[in-house]
Amino acid sequence: MERSITMNEEQRKEQAQIKQEPSVDRQTSQDKPLSEKTTEDFAHYFQTTYEPPDIRKARKRGRDEIEVHYDFDIPKEMQSIGEGKKFLIRTYGCQMNEHDTEVMAGILTEMGYESTSDTNDADIILLNTCAIRENAENKVFGEIGHLKPLKVENPDLIIGVCGCMSQRETVVNRIMKKHPQVDLIFGTHNIHRIPHLIQEAMFSKAQVVEVWSKEGDIIENLPKVRHGKIKAWVNIMYGCDKFCTYCIVPMTRGKERSRRPEDIIQEVRHLAAQGYQEITLLGQNVNAYGKDFVDMDYRFGDLMNDMHKIDIPRVRFTTSHPRDFDDHLIEVLAQGGNLLDHIHLPVQSGSSYVLRKMNRKYTREEYLELVRKIKEAMPNATLTTDIIVGFPNETDEQFEETMTLMEEVGFEAAYTFIYSPREGTPAAAKTDEISMEVKKERLYRLNELVNKQSKESMKNYEGHVVKVLVEGESKKDDQVLAGYTERNKVVNFVGPKSIIGQIVDVKITEAKTWSLNGELVEKTVGVNR
Ligand code: 5AD
Ligand code: SF4
Repeated sequence: MERSITMNEEQRKEQAQIKQEPSVDRQTSQDKPLSEKTTEDFAHYFQTTYEPPDIRKARKRGRDEIEVHYDFDIPKEMQSIGEGKKFLIRTYGCQMNEHDTEVMAGILTEMGYESTSDTNDADIILLNTCAIRENAENKVFGEIGHLKPLKVENPDLIIGVCGCMSQRETVVNRIMKKHPQVDLIFGTHNIHRIPHLIQEAMFSKAQVVEVWSKEGDIIENLPKVRHGKIKAWVNIMYGCDKFCTYCIVPMTRGKERSRRPEDIIQEVRHLAAQGYQEITLLGQNVNAYGKDFVDMDYRFGDLMNDMHKIDIPRVRFTTSHPRDFDDHLIEVLAQGGNLLDHIHLPVQSGSSYVLRKMNRKYTREEYLELVRKIKEAMPNATLTTDIIVGFPNETDEQFEETMTLMEEVGFEAAYTFIYSPREGTPAAAKTDEISMEVKKERLYRLNELVNKQSKESMKNYEGHVVKVLVEGESKKDDQVLAGYTERNKVVNFVGPKSIIGQIVDVKITEAKTWSLNGELVEKTVGVNR
């Protein structure tokens, strides 16, 4: 295993690390007032920092360049730079981003910063952004606008934009052109560079931009400040090589890179020893775990088998891709124990035609066959999914196939989305005959069905005893405790605060659409639900 830092250092020098330093051609555009600058004036940043999403180039990316680095270190001069100062990180999007925020918080804490939830109190504000749909991006631009008066009041405040949006050229252009209050822009591959980037933002009068388009490395031993002491996220892999035609992720998160099993196992053992009750293994497509190893044959099923042996009560994983969900994994999951039988299995569409257009690499029939196998091996398994409606030119009939698939599988919950064109993805280049009105109507109908199925599945819990990992007080009522069942249903019940962090038996008394009410059972044998 390589333990050098050369690749990152070279990348950094060669194609990254650009800030607004005067140079001959930059000087001309810098002389103009910001409002008069055009995209071309900013284009030079990307000559060295960034390549816009290019599906053809991305598809060619190699498998053999992954290096693992174990030597993360904060430079001496930055180790106490945050003393007496506070940071705030606002997170948008998926669990991957939430976990990245934990890492960034870890790094900032090691630099002496303390966290705050009050923007007026913060010396550094980072927006950890999501690019998956247009409305996610719009929210961030709204927030960037809201932060402007703070910067005017306190010019020493550092405002940074990071996460998936900062991997997009148009976004970085727009920030540089229209939002001078942003001091720092860095990408998803640059998190470990935060100490250096902050240093530069502090001492430079110009925006600091560092976005690496070429990824390939895994940085271990990054500090983390985890959210709570009960549940923890553990990255098992980064990136995605599936290239679904609607999805920006393969461009913003880079190619698939798996962490070495020994590093994951060590992290999970450590969490178990600290008393964590539940871990969620994270990746854009966890089923592709290990495909990139050139020196061993060790896949997601093997990893889950190793997780099964670790003394931690609950192990979850997200997100799965049906294509890579193999028989070995099903066999391993069927062992049960700490491997929970809730599987989130995004289907996206019920039409084989649309699935092909989406480049999902499976048909409706293959998906149903996979579901059949899972249910056969794990009769108690509960399935949830993601669905996109209104993919370009999706016909009424094709949408109806999604509706029937929803019923046929009997999903207990689904995240549903209207297709959002993402610049740089193949689907975004298609003309689309379907109006937004029709798409909204479809979404409405689908959501009605999702709610109905969720409600029905919840009803089945009434009268049963479930195991609940108690996470804390309910947000609505501090007399009520709240936690999650093995199948990830929220349960509210009255109980002593002393059981927070424990797994307890709760008898369900009332089912709602998205949550359950229950009564604590002092000593009952739990049913696996
Ligand atoms: N438009 C709408 N939904 C999308 N998703 C991914 N890309 C898009 C897009 N361009 C959805 C998929 C994925 C989930 C995380 O987000 O359903 O599974
Ligand atoms: Fe995007 Fe998921 Fe498809 Fe990867 S598998 S391209 S992350 S939808």
